[in-house]
Order: sequence, then structure tokens, then C-alpha cells
Amino acid sequence: MGIKILVVHGPNLSLLGERERDVYGTVSLEDINSALIRKAEELGVELIVFQSNHEGQIIDEIIARRKEVDGILINPAGLTHTSVALLDCIRGVNLPVVEVHLSNIHAREEFRRKSITAQSALGLISGFGLDSYLLGLEALVSHIRREGK
Ligand code: DQA
Repeated sequence: MGIKILVVHGPNLSLLGERERDVYGTVSLEDINSALIRKAEELGVELIVFQSNHEGQIIDEIIARRKEVDGILINPAGLTHTSVALLDCIRGVNLPVVEVHLSNIHAREEFRRKSITAQSALGLISGFGLDSYLLGLEALVSHIRREGK
């Protein structure tokens, strides 16, 4: 079986394109998903894409998919800075996780500088807009391949 990745978009990312354009630009979530699907085809991997505004639904999805996927690409959005529950979930499922952010979370308000969730991630890519996701997917897939899948 080939490599399968769960892509998780957290709260308010469904509003991309309309939301705080000065920070996030005009790219929509659909644009991001299309670019990710193209990149996944290039890399020869399969994606499952999920967005929710609800912390518990995100946790339920990760738990439900944990045996089906080889890794997780996640933008936890606002939950990045608050969610011990999501941190515990990511830690608990024991899958490689790459965290991505459109904006550079270190160049914004103080409260965004700390990522709780990144503590159990393989790595974090932040500040490159849509490219954060594409770079994150590449890094995750090459990690999984290096580990022998
Ligand atoms: C974000 C950064 C977070 O601080 C913010 O709450 C978001 C988006 C990003 O992709 O830049 O919703 O995760």
C-alpha cells in the first residue's frame, strides 16, 4: 500500500481569501487543497483532507484515521496556541506530524509565538503562505520514506 497523509485545517481556515487578507493574502482553502492534491500526485501519495472549526471534531478525525494514514500535515490555526488536548492527541497517535502556518507566527503578536502543538511535531514551517503547506508535505513524505515506507 502507498503512503497516505491526513491533512487537517483548523478553525477559521475555511474563511481564507476573505479573512484578514493583509496577513493571509487572497489564497482560498480550495486553492490550498488543489495545490496540495497536485503536489501529492507528483510525490505519488494519497491525501485525506479535513477542515473543522471544532477542536473535538479535529481530535475525533485524527483518532479515527490513525491506523489508515502514515502521517499528518496540520495547520491547527488558533488551536496552536491553546490546545493541550490537540497536543496530547498528536502525541498519542504516534504518527509523524508536520505543523504548518501561512503566516510567520514569530513575527506577530506575542501570544502567537508559542506553539503548544508543535511540541509533538516532527517540525514546523511557518511564514510562506501556500508554500508552507507544500514544503510541509514534501518534508513529511521524505521523512516517511526515509523511515522505510
Ligand atoms: C495560522 C496562525 C495562527 O496564529 C492563527 O490563529 C490562524 C492561522 C497561520 O496559518 O498563519 O488561524 O495558523
